[in-house]
Amino acid sequence: MKYIIHGACGRMGQVVLRVFRANCPDADLIPVDPMTRDGEAYAALTDYTGPADCIVDFSHHSATAALTAYATARKLPLVIATTGQTEAELAAIHQAAQVVPVLLASNFSLGIVVLTALAKQAAQAFPEADVEIVETHHNRKLDVPSGTALTLGRAVQSVRPGSRLVIGRHENGKRERADIDIHALRMGNVVGIHEIHVCTDTQTLTLRHEAHDRALFAEGALTAAKWLAGRTSGMYDMQDVLDGILKSI
Ligand SMILES: NC(=O)c1ccc[n+]([C@@H]2O[C@H](COP(=O)([O-])OP(=O)(O)OC[C@H]3O[C@@H](n4cnc5c(N)ncnc54)[C@H](O)[C@@H]3O)[C@@H](O)[C@H]2O)c1
Repeated sequence: MKYIIHGACGRMGQVVLRVFRANCPDADLIPVDPMTRDGEAYAALTDYTGPADCIVDFSHHSATAALTAYATARKLPLVIATTGQTEAELAAIHQAAQVVPVLLASNFSLGIVVLTALAKQAAQAFPEADVEIVETHHNRKLDVPSGTALTLGRAVQSVRPGSRLVIGRHENGKRERADIDIHALRMGNVVGIHEIHVCTDTQTLTLRHEAHDRALFAEGALTAAKWLAGRTSGMYDMQDVLDGILKSI
């Protein structure tokens, strides 16, 4: 397999290169990143015209237009791990999925996929409960709240019609029962913690996931890239990958 690693010089890109090399020694890795020095990567996707089987993207959402144009022009499956896309960028991703298979996930941890399903179940089991989501990340993270916290919030919202997501509560006033609040902490070197508190007047259920090592996301991206090979065009997520794993057991 030949994987184009987009954002290869970044924190995650470096981990992806290490994890893919360790787990797939026969794979060819093609690093792409505008921050390249000493020619260790191609500076732009369009600089690489050779063969490839899949693009794995851990870059910046501002690259979405170039990324989707390249993937569709070259008919390459696309694994997008980058977060923080605007509505227009998300629309471009969905448009690309009409031509190529696209797997978009704000968190490549299978643990988070399970956490999302549990959060929906808890919100349904306790329809009157207050749901509060707290995410914690390192102090260099750019987007807030995390894409994963938004995904979790939207998942809970999907089973709570009429609820609203409140991102960072800054104004005085009572919380509405249906509100789903998201709070973000930025500190130190924390890789990523997501907590969901489901609280009734008599009990609190707390669901928590903690990432210990960024390699976790690279491992998930590799699993996703292998799974995406040979799929038809369309949008996929990590739940599809987990379903595939569970079916094969
Ligand atoms: N989905 C997941 O599981 C997951 C996990 C970790 C990080 N992420 C996301 O991955 C992205 C990268 O994270 P990071 O910590 O490695 O960031 P980083 O800032 O360390 O690295 C980003 C890299 O992308 C490159 N880049 C910036 N603009 C670009 C452009 N227009 N075209 C191509 N490359 C460009 C930069 O040069 C840099 O090397 C972020 O959006 C982050 O939220 C997702």
